Amino acid sequence: MAKNKPAAKPAAVPAVHPEIRPGQSVELLKELHILTRDGQLNQDSRRKLKQVYHLYQFIEPLLAEVLADTGDLSLADHGAGKSYLGFILYDLFLKDKPAGTLYGIETRAELVQRSRELAERLGFPRMRFLDVSVEESTRSEVLPEHFDVVTALHACNTATDDAIQFALAKDARFVVLVPCCQAEVASVMRQNKNASFGKTPLSEIWRHPLHTREFGSQLTNALRCLQLEAHGYQVTVTELVGWEHSMKNELIIAKRTGQPRKNAMQRIEAILDELNLAELRSRFAC
Ligand SMILES: C[S@@+](CC[C@H](N)C(=O)[O-])C[C@H]1O[C@@H](n2cnc3c(N)ncnc32)[C@H](O)[C@@H]1O
Repeated sequence: MAKNKPAAKPAAVPAVHPEIRPGQSVELLKELHILTRDGQLNQDSRRKLKQVYHLYQFIEPLLAEVLADTGDLSLADHGAGKSYLGFILYDLFLKDKPAGTLYGIETRAELVQRSRELAERLGFPRMRFLDVSVEESTRSEVLPEHFDVVTALHACNTATDDAIQFALAKDARFVVLVPCCQAEVASVMRQNKNASFGKTPLSEIWRHPLHTREFGSQLTNALRCLQLEAHGYQVTVTELVGWEHSMKNELIIAKRTGQPRKNAMQRIEAILDELNLAELRSRFAC
């Protein structure tokens, strides 16, 4: 008589994608809809994951430095949205550490509520979420007076500028920004176009509407960098991922050195003056 065959093993748990980092909670990725219910990645979520992981590579050493130096860590993520970044940072870095708290700041109350519930379900107790604007959060009494790290990933329009103000007010050691399109500078350029033609030949740089938008956006980021340098930060500007993935791809990393670049504020003033943008002084020259 033929020997009884051993019972077949249960179907293997689907192999985790090579794109997914070791230690990453598959449950979290499903909750964030980065993985489908059956564990697949789609085109969109693959892009999001790649972006967030790439950013993680830059942020992880900063978190490690702060934690090693102080034994604690506070991070504010502005314009958090669904808090992809916050959850991934917590899952990959903070989860196993004895200290460190991450705050997500987001104006959309339903996203904040969803993030609170998700943190609860996943057992991530040192994640907090506030449904306030970045600007309001700077004055919020429920937030600590000091933050170690401030991030803003594609926070809309001037929310990135407010995140810089938050970082300055909280004396943050590191500021990590991936700006979204900022419309304010371009809009002032547009309003002042006629006057600018008479004032400076440089106005040719933003005469065409497409150039107004593009130059406005680039100028905004240059002014943000100068502003951080004026306040004692050393600034690095690099690409987040290849241009094929996102047009809003600039990554600004600032480290507080406490030594302001001497002429940075003068440069801001001179640029605003030369480009006929004096009304933006309260945004950048402060
Ligand atoms: C493009 S989403 C990016 C979300 C997330 N950081 C990410 O990369 O997946 C921008 C988010 O910023 C939020 N937001 C816009 N202006 C804000 C402000 N002034 N204060 C707080 N959140 C803001 C929006 O509600 C939105 O959820």
